[in-house]
Formats: sequence, structure tokens, C-alpha cells
Amino acid sequence: MAQTIVVLDFGSQYTQVIARRIREANVYSKVLPFDTPVGEIKALKPVGLVLSGGPASVLANGSPKPHRSLFNLGVPILGICYGLQLMGKMLGGEVKASQQREYGRGKLSITKPGTLFKGLPKELTVWNSHGDCLTKLPKGFRELARTENSRFSAIEDPARKFYGLQFHPEVEHSEKGTQIIQNFLTQVCKCEGDWGMEDFTEASIRSIQEQVGDKKVILGLSGGVDSSVAAALIDRAIGKQLTCIFVDNGLLRLNERDQVIQLFHNHIPGKLKVARAGALFLNRLKGVTDPEKKRKIIGKTFIEVFDQEVKKLGEVDFLAQGTLYPDVIESVPIGGNPAALIKSHHNVGGLPKSMKLSLLEPLRELFKDEVRDLGRTLGLPKEVLMRHPFPGPGLGVRVVGEIKPQRLRVLREADAIFIEELIESRWYHRLWQAFCVFLPVRSVGVMGDERTYENVISLRAVTSSDAMTADWAQLPDKLLRKVSNRIINEVKGANRVVYDISSKPPSTIEWE
Ligand code: XMP
Repeated sequence: MAQTIVVLDFGSQYTQVIARRIREANVYSKVLPFDTPVGEIKALKPVGLVLSGGPASVLANGSPKPHRSLFNLGVPILGICYGLQLMGKMLGGEVKASQQREYGRGKLSITKPGTLFKGLPKELTVWNSHGDCLTKLPKGFRELARTENSRFSAIEDPARKFYGLQFHPEVEHSEKGTQIIQNFLTQVCKCEGDWGMEDFTEASIRSIQEQVGDKKVILGLSGGVDSSVAAALIDRAIGKQLTCIFVDNGLLRLNERDQVIQLFHNHIPGKLKVARAGALFLNRLKGVTDPEKKRKIIGKTFIEVFDQEVKKLGEVDFLAQGTLYPDVIESVPIGGNPAALIKSHHNVGGLPKSMKLSLLEPLRELFKDEVRDLGRTLGLPKEVLMRHPFPGPGLGVRVVGEIKPQRLRVLREADAIFIEELIESRWYHRLWQAFCVFLPVRSVGVMGDERTYENVISLRAVTSSDAMTADWAQLPDKLLRKVSNRIINEVKGANRVVYDISSKPPSTIEWE
């Protein structure tokens, strides 16, 4: 049994990011709700505990708290943000609402390296998100670092092996954050890095087998990384009990349906059914321009089409989906924190009650790059694993405004050119995502001696590691020039190409 770190979740949108950082260090981590009985935690024999951040204030009545005996387990504890304040308050220190709230980047000055900051520079840029502050240390603790507004930004009690960080070491923007977490794991908890993706694969297979038993499962295959990996994993676990359904919603990219059929044929031995429902989707989307309405219609229709396919299969109990953690976090208000709800991703958030299927989401806690690793351990080919993510609503959210067949044609052709050139110039794999967006804006142009009045295509290319944040990519002029020339010359209906130079946040990756 691998060494285990338990992460107690107090409702932070970063809890799974903490778990992921721990996995990155090849250490097994288990996320549990904050009120998990201490006996249950003890039974897992954890080598360390992490208390996550959370949206509540420890000063508020009824704010989430673990049982006091958690601090008597003799296990090292790292409290992050709310976790630090909670530990501070429960162990006899003092927490107050700050005069100056700290959100975003801050300068951390390390006054004493202790174990957590061993070997790190004396000043670090870190990411904060808190209103309260620890103002008096509990007995046995000492200060390790401070920021301008927070005296106890990092603390330790080396005798009991309790540590606290007011900032978020788990987010990418915190300099040396990964190193700080690794110091906790290796120096304090003595983790040996005895866990890897193969272990995750084996554990997932066992858990799918347990959950499904001898029941039947259907899976919505999109041909993207997530659903293909989910299909291969579930296929490995329960084989013939799985049927995959590919819905052609009329919002796919050029030749996509045939590519998916080919992929499946070559690499996933299970059953595949193709539902050709393009006309139904496009009919329902006629005249609709509001992005959320479009998403809702696409989501609802998708479920209906699925429902019909399920009925054709007779008795089916589970619907499997390749939902990833970033999809979950942006769709569900986590721990009552409504800020986490950004877009309603149609493939997350449950099914209508009438559908009577249970959800099977074996990738729900993983991030994209982890899913690619998992796919590799399952033997899927590189072209599939390295494919850019494609949203469930497909080109439906890339034709801005009303979706019409002619607009889809223009978008498909332009997008195929962009992707072809990115692959040719070896830029494709350096990007998180790249695609074209059809803008319902017409502009004047001149071709030969003719005046044209046609639509605009926007190119979008971003770098990212998990889609939670993204930067627009600095593609070479020469490449942009070639793509623009080709689109304007080869695609009838587009006479202008623009490049989107917005980062996430504050923009999102997709336009709708
Ligand atoms: P945004 O546009 O929110 O996108 O920055 C973040 C990532 O999610 C993808 N995306 C979706 N994926 N169903 C999906 O499966 C959806 O409804 C959906 N909307 C956005 C997007 O392509 C990007 O990778």
C-alpha cells in the first residue's frame, strides 16, 4: 500500500489542485470532506494531512471545522489559507478580519527558512486570496515568512510537525510553490514517491469493476482525449459490458466523424454506435443567439439523443463520461462558493431524473496532462492523446451568434487550414488549444477588382497547463501571414482574419 496523504477539503476551488501537486510528487493523495470522522482518517494511516483553503471565515458561526482530535493523531499537518487560520485558531492563536484583504500576487519575505523554505530564495512572489489573518501565534509555533499585510504568512511548529501557509502554494502563480509542497512531503512526511499513474490505472480499474458489477455502461465518445481515455479505461475494466455512443451533433469539425470511427476501430475493441443527429440539433438552434441558451439546447438535445440510444440497448445502468476536474470546477458551485460557476458545461452536473442512469466518471479528479499520462499507460496512440481539447458543444460555441449551415462550413474550412498549418510548422503540440472562431460580422474587402462583403474569422491559439488560466500564443508572423492568406483565398465566405490576443482570465478560452 502506497504512502497516503489525506487532503481535507474545506470547499476551496483549489483542493484538487493540491491533490494534483501531491500526485506530481509521485505520492498517493486522497481528498476527503472536512468533517470525515477522525477514526476514518486514522484508519488510512496517512503519513501527512493537508487542510485546504475554503470560502468561509473561521470567525463565522458554523464555519467548517474538523474534530479537535485531528491534531492529536501525531501526523504532520500542512494548513493552507483557511487551513492555516483554522489550525491557528483551534490551537489557541488569534485570527482577525484583516484591514487590508490580500487577493492576487504578493511579495513573501522569508524570515526563517525552516523546513518548508529550505534552499529557496529569501523573497518569493506568491498568490494570495484571503480576508482574515492570523494575528497571534498558537503556542509552539514560530513565524517563517510574512507579506506586507500579513505578519504570519508562513508558520511552523517543528516539534508537532504542524505547518501553515497563508498563500496558495498549489497554484501556478506562486513561485516555488511546488517545491514548498514537495519539501512538506519529502522532508516532513518522509514520502518516498512510491506511487505512479500505473497505480492509479489499477486502482481505477478495480473501482470501476466494483461500482459497475455486472451492469451495463454506455459512454459518450467524442473522440477527444478525455472520452477516448475513459472508454479505454472502462473497456479494460469491464470489456463487453461497455457500449460507446458517438453523437454526430452537426457541430463537428471537418471529417471528424470518420476520424473517430477509425480511431475506435483501431484502438478500443468495444462496441461503437454512431447517432447521426445533426439535423435535429441544427433545427433546434435556429434563430438562437444567446451563448447560454445555445449551450442549454445542445446539452438537452445531446441527452435526449442519448436517451433514445440507451432505450435501443435495453437495460443499461451507467452513463460514463470523460469529465475532468477543470470541467467540474467551472460548472458546479463548490462548497457553496458561487464564484466557481463560470460556464455551464453541458456534460457536467448530472442528468435529468427521468434518465435513471448513474454517472460513472473515472477521470473526475484528474487534469488534462494526467489524463494523457493515463492514456499512455493504456496504450492509446500519441495523435489521440496530444489532440487539443474540443468542447462538448463543439462548433456551436465557435460560431458566435446564430448557428447556420453556411457559417459552419466557413468555420470548418478555415479551422482545418489553421490546424494543418500548425501541425506543418510544428506549433500544434506546443499549444494547449488552437481553433478558429466565426464572427457574425461582415467587413468590406477587395478581391481582384471585386468588392467583397463577407465574414470575419478569428484565430485563437493559447498555451495553458490545465485550462484554468491561459495565455495567448505568440505565433510567428510568417505562420499567421500564411494562415490568413490561405483562409482568405481558399474559404469562400471569409475575407478577413484577426488574431485573438486575450488571456484567461479575464477572457475565457472559447468565445462563448
Ligand atoms: P473556457 O472557454 O471556459 O474553456 O476558458 C476552458 C476549457 O474547457 C473547454 N470547454 C468545454 N468543454 N464542454 C466541454 O467538454 C463544454 O461545454 C465546454 N466549454 C468549454 C474549452 O475548450 C477549454 O479547453
